[in-house]
Amino acid sequence: MKVLVIGGGAREHALCRSLSLDPDVSALYCAPGNAGIAEVAELRPVDALDGDAVAALATELGAGLVVVGPEAPLVAGVGDAVRAAGIPVFGPSAEAAQLEGSKAFAKDVMAAAGVPTARSYVCTTPEEVDAALDAFGAPYVVKDDGLAAGKGVVVTEDLAAARAHALGCDRVVIEEYLDGPEVSLFAITDGVTVVPLQPAQDFKRALDGDQGPNTGGMGAYSPLPWADPKLVDEVMELVLQPTVDELRRRGTPFSGLLYAGLAITSRGTRVIEFNARFGDPETQVVLARLRTPLASVLLNAANGTLDTEEPLVWREDAAVTVVIASHNYPDTPRTGDPIEGLAEVAAEDAPDAYVLHAGTRREGDAIVSAGGRVLSVTATGSDLAQAREKAYKAVARIRLDGSQHRTDIAAKAAGLG
Ligand code: AMP
Ligand code: GLY
Repeated sequence: MKVLVIGGGAREHALCRSLSLDPDVSALYCAPGNAGIAEVAELRPVDALDGDAVAALATELGAGLVVVGPEAPLVAGVGDAVRAAGIPVFGPSAEAAQLEGSKAFAKDVMAAAGVPTARSYVCTTPEEVDAALDAFGAPYVVKDDGLAAGKGVVVTEDLAAARAHALGCDRVVIEEYLDGPEVSLFAITDGVTVVPLQPAQDFKRALDGDQGPNTGGMGAYSPLPWADPKLVDEVMELVLQPTVDELRRRGTPFSGLLYAGLAITSRGTRVIEFNARFGDPETQVVLARLRTPLASVLLNAANGTLDTEEPLVWREDAAVTVVIASHNYPDTPRTGDPIEGLAEVAAEDAPDAYVLHAGTRREGDAIVSAGGRVLSVTATGSDLAQAREKAYKAVARIRLDGSQHRTDIAAKAAGLG
C-alpha cells in the first residue's frame, strides 16, 4: 500500500517512522514534511490546507491511504476532499472535526452524550463574561472558542487577566476549574468501533515545575504508573464510546483519531478537551510502544472495518520524549539556527533513543531550526527512569543555539521528584 501523510511536525515524523517500519507499506510520502521525515518518506510540496491540491496529489501518487496529521487541514475539509476523490482517509470530516474546532460544539456533544466535563458558559458579550467569571470564581478558565493551537486557553487567579483574554475573543467558553493530574487518551475509531491506545501524559507549560506559559507540549511519557489500571476501560465507557455514538446519531460520524484530554479530579474523571487528531508530543511515546503494524489499523478505521482488527499489541517498555524548542518559544521563535549532534545520537544512542523532527529544514548540508518546537527526542527503556535517562543523554548531544527544553519530563512519574 502507498501511504501519503499530511503534515510536517514531530507527530508526523513519528507516524512516518512507524509506517516506514510496516511491511504493508510499499511507498511512503509526506507533504510537506520536514528535514527528518525526508529520511523515511519522500517529501512532496503541497498546501496542506488545500483539499483539492491534496486530493490531486494523492491521486497522482496512487495512494491507498491518506493520513491527515494536524487539525487545521481536517477543520478545513481536506479529509472530505480526499474521500470525495475515492481515496480512504484517516481523519474526520470537517463537520466531525468541529469536536476540536469549536469548544462550544464539543460541550454540546458532551452534554448530549452524558460525558463528564467541566460546567461551562458560552459567552459573546462583556456582561455574559462577567457573570460567568463571577459564577465560577478563581482560578478562572477562559477558552477562545476557535482553533488556537493549544494557546487560546488562559488559566489564572487574576480576574483582570481572565477578563482581558475573554474580551479579546469573539466567542469564549468560561468554565469551572478542574484540579488533578491530566491524562491524554487516544482512540482510533471508524465511527462505530472504538479502539483505545495507551494513556500518556503531556507537559504543557514551557518551564520546569509546570511554570511559564502554555505551549503545544514540551514532553510526554507513557505508561502512567500512577494511574488506576481501570482508567482506559472507564474512559472508554464514559467518554469515548458515548462521544462516537453521539456523533454518529447526529449524522456526522467521527472516524480517525479521537483524543480525550482528561483531568483526574477528586470528583472523578472529566474531559478537559477533545482533539480530532493525534496529540503532539504524546504520539511520539504512544507509537514508540505500539508493536502492531500501524497501516492496517489506520486503513481499517478509514474503511469502516475496524471491527476486523485484532487487539493491539504493546511493548512492555516505557517511553519518554523531550521537546527541544527554539529561543523565545512560545512567543515568536527564532529560526534558521543550525542543529548539530544529530549524527552522534544516531551513532551512539539508536535504536533505543532517536530524534524526531518538528520544525526543521535542510539548508545545503546543514539542518536548521524552522519553528517553535524543533526536535522531539524520544527514547524507550525497561521503565520510565531508564527511558528518561536515555532521552536526556541524547538531548545533551544536540547543539542548537539559544534552545530550551524542560529537565523534569517524567521525573515525578519515574519516582525521582
Ligand atoms: P485545552 O486547550 O482545553 O486543552 O487547555 C489547555 C490547558 O489548559 C489544559 O491542558 C489544562 O492544563 C488547562 N485547562 C483547560 N481547561 C481547564 C480546566 N477546566 N481546569 C483546569 N485547567 C484547565
Ligand atoms: N499535546 C497536546 C496536543 O496535541 O494538543
